Amino acid sequence: KDALRVAVLGCGSVGSQVVRLLTEQADDLAMRAGVPLELAGVAVRRLDAPRDVEVPAHLLTTDATALVTSGVDLVVEVIGGIEPARSLILAALESGASVVTANKALLAEDGATLFEAAEKAGRDLYYEAAVAGAIPIIRPLRESLVGDTVTRVLGIVNGTTNYILDKMDSSGAGFADALGEAQELGYAEADPTADVEGFDAAAKAAILASLAFHTRVTAADVHREGISDVTAADVRSAADMGAVVKLLAICELRDGPDGQAVSARVHPAMIPRSHPLASVREAYNAVFVESRAAGRLMFYGPGAGGAPTASAVLGDLVTIARHHRAGTRGAGESAYTARPVLPMGET
Ligand code: HSE
Repeated sequence: KDALRVAVLGCGSVGSQVVRLLTEQADDLAMRAGVPLELAGVAVRRLDAPRDVEVPAHLLTTDATALVTSGVDLVVEVIGGIEPARSLILAALESGASVVTANKALLAEDGATLFEAAEKAGRDLYYEAAVAGAIPIIRPLRESLVGDTVTRVLGIVNGTTNYILDKMDSSGAGFADALGEAQELGYAEADPTADVEGFDAAAKAAILASLAFHTRVTAADVHREGISDVTAADVRSAADMGAVVKLLAICELRDGPDGQAVSARVHPAMIPRSHPLASVREAYNAVFVESRAAGRLMFYGPGAGGAPTASAVLGDLVTIARHHRAGTRGAGESAYTARPVLPMGET
């Protein structure tokens, strides 16, 4: 069978693990997909940058646009950020490639443009890696639970802040010291603003709420408060009450003024130690889902890191390759109802 050609955009901690797994597991992936997946190229910013995986020189390029429009079948976008990621994804779809992305910021800001482009091109756009790393949560919400009515999604969806709050809880450390440790361990970025101020979690909340409630929620709709004002005393008084402080993404179906509406917010919250989310330690993530028929479900696992995130990317690649082979495509994102999203603050 003709191989499907895969382009990888970005070769940082996730991209290098995608390249490694694609190469090391080539035979198994070919068997599972029903068709070989061949690495066609890796777009990087600098050819001579140090990286965690060896990429044959002839596969490296700094011209990402040329790569995505060169007739490849699948494009993996793990650059992050809004541009050039958005233009590259749109160019890939227009050129007939399906896309796998881990880009939560872009999906939460302008997912509609991407989903429409995928629909128009008749191609797949998959993003299991965009929320909670390795944890399967996109497909369960989009497919497994689509026949049920989800009423609430509660998530610990940022590993860095969970590490910081857990450290403050277990050792009595203050915010600054715990952040320093998270940075030393490589969890937090050098500029940890997106993590500690809740922007990263808010993007993930927008994606989860959109899927759970079949509507479109953008990052701007999410009420957001980070953890930089949480003090050691706050964490101690929560502990005295048998509770723990967590940065929660809370997505709910609520009764609005004109029927049911959706609310999404991210803020530090006290939860009783008996709640399943209280047991999520260190940089782990978990998503707790309540639905009418299924009841309460919990998804738990590594929410960040190169290999765990690459696991989700590879799952998407094999799924799309199977669609390709069968001449079909995935569920798509077109089936949105016009359920209103409560304005920020009205939560
Ligand atoms: N900075 C993110 C986190 C990485 O700490 O969870 C995964 O999106």
